Amino acid sequence: MKVILSLGGSVLAPELSADQITAHAEAIESLADAGFEVGIVVGGGDVARDYITTARDLGGNEVQLDELGIEVTRLNARLLIAALDAKTNPTPAEDFAAAGEALNRGEIAVMGGVTPGQTTDAVAASLAEYVGADLVAYATSTDGVYDADPNEDPDAIRYTTMSPAELVELVVPMSRDAGSSAPVDLLAAKLIERAGIRGIVFDGTDPDDVTEAILHGRHTGTDIIPEGSDEPEEWITTE
Ligand code: UTP
Repeated sequence: MKVILSLGGSVLAPELSADQITAHAEAIESLADAGFEVGIVVGGGDVARDYITTARDLGGNEVQLDELGIEVTRLNARLLIAALDAKTNPTPAEDFAAAGEALNRGEIAVMGGVTPGQTTDAVAASLAEYVGADLVAYATSTDGVYDADPNEDPDAIRYTTMSPAELVELVVPMSRDAGSSAPVDLLAAKLIERAGIRGIVFDGTDPDDVTEAILHGRHTGTDIIPEGSDEPEEWITTE
């Protein structure tokens, strides 16, 4: 089974902790040990936000700010690469072809952002489509997709399952707000819908939860299930 894991910067490195990054690297290696082909897209987290805010105050334009954000995602990707003992591309892949080639060599492919105007949510969905992944897993610091922002609305309800089309419908109005509270960005939702890829959005703060979600499909977040898609065989047969 081929899986693309989107690992938020706030999940991998909420602060610079070697122990936390090592724990995530070990969880990823356990997926590879179980025979999964794994690509990782690393986000920028608070460090990217801090750089972007500062550069905006300095008068940088939005493309320059996105480029700063991309650099930070690649710095975080380098931290993960440093922690992985398994074979991986030695520097973050800068395009989908390089990530695809790493997977074809049997390596864990690691990348950050690629181009201005999006976030790593969309990079993960694009990479999943590019390499024909069976699953795109979003390990975030919130525990799934809600019908409203759970930080603002105490009555917000979490979806257990939803279709890609329902995800798009939900994210469209959320994406109009500045500082969007959308669980994944709109482009990512549309790419997931277009590609018909199965997805999971879950709290990946604890690396063990990442392993459980991907190896066995066990998590407390939201499954995004395209019409007519079957549960991956590995989830049915593995203990
Ligand atoms: P992230 O993917 O970490 O953004 O990329 P995010 O959604 O704000 O982070 P989380 O999920 O809440 O942790 C950081 C920034 O890098 C730029 C964007 O400005 C983004 O906000 N970026 C990233 C791009 O412009 N293009 C990319 O392909 C990736």
